[in-house]
Amino acid sequence: MQMRLSRAARIILVGAPGVGKGTQTKRLLEKFPQLTAISSGDLLRENVREQTPLGIKAKSVMRSGKLVPDTLMLRLIHHELSTRGFLSRTHSPFILSSTSLSDPLSATSFVDPYPPPNTPETPSPSPSSSFILDGFPRTARQASRLDSTVDMNLVVNITTPLPALLARIQSRWVHAPSGRVYNTTFNAPRVEGLDDVTGEKLTRRDDDETGVYLERLKRFTETNEPLLEHYRRKDVLWTVEGETSDEITPKLVEEVVRRFG
Ligand code: AP5
Ligand code: MG
Repeated sequence: MQMRLSRAARIILVGAPGVGKGTQTKRLLEKFPQLTAISSGDLLRENVREQTPLGIKAKSVMRSGKLVPDTLMLRLIHHELSTRGFLSRTHSPFILSSTSLSDPLSATSFVDPYPPPNTPETPSPSPSSSFILDGFPRTARQASRLDSTVDMNLVVNITTPLPALLARIQSRWVHAPSGRVYNTTFNAPRVEGLDDVTGEKLTRRDDDETGVYLERLKRFTETNEPLLEHYRRKDVLWTVEGETSDEITPKLVEEVVRRFG
């Protein structure tokens, strides 16, 4: 049954790689039609696939399991939030033209995309301006820069015992053009190796190879506690635990209804 929000929900999903951020995002979108979502990983993979200048730079970073530089991520997300109309200021404090993205990682093209913290934009209170950020921010620096742009009002920290995560990643298959995710043990495609909708071949994500996954996990372990502490101090952090996504979804839906229903 679909449900309606009566106030704007601006939700961040935080958690280890493979914890189910993408899975929970998809389920929340189905449950609450007023929500939309921005996945930093999907956005980056789209740029890699389309071989944009940004994608070309990000590709090797992602393939090694490291984090894409904050400056680049901030621009990418700010651009996405503005394009979708989630920031009230019509005049952006920085110019994000295709030329400014043409060499986003070079030192000479560095322009801090964020206004000083004393000029936050007022987000729309309308429930139709509700959105989820999946995978962004993931460093405390990204979080404090986001604060000066838009005030997020719920940060969901998803936790699952680590041994379950690697097993999930090893059985994850994706349909790259659409971003549809399958798992041979959890939501297998109807025909093995093929996308349910297009019948095209499924592939593995480049960064799901075990060595790269362990590197991603290491980055997560290094950056996550300062990130959680940032939101704990702002009193918007809520933690949910579960062995499986099915266990987590009803708790998450209940919390969203409690806060925004
Ligand atoms: P990103 O794409 O965000 O990857 P991630 O955080 O490592 O997380 P995943 O997408 O792997 O997992 P998920 O939590 O979404 O889990 P899912 O639902 O798919 O980032 C990729 C890279 O981009 C980063 O390494 C970095 O380089 C860069 N990047 C992105 N954002 C950045 C940022 N802000 N700053 C800097 N760099 C950034 O579930 C996983 C699997 O489990 C699926 O196969 C699913 O089907 C399966 N599953 C789900 N539930 C169950 C269940 N109950 N039982 C069994 N399997 C299940
Ligand atoms: Mg994901």
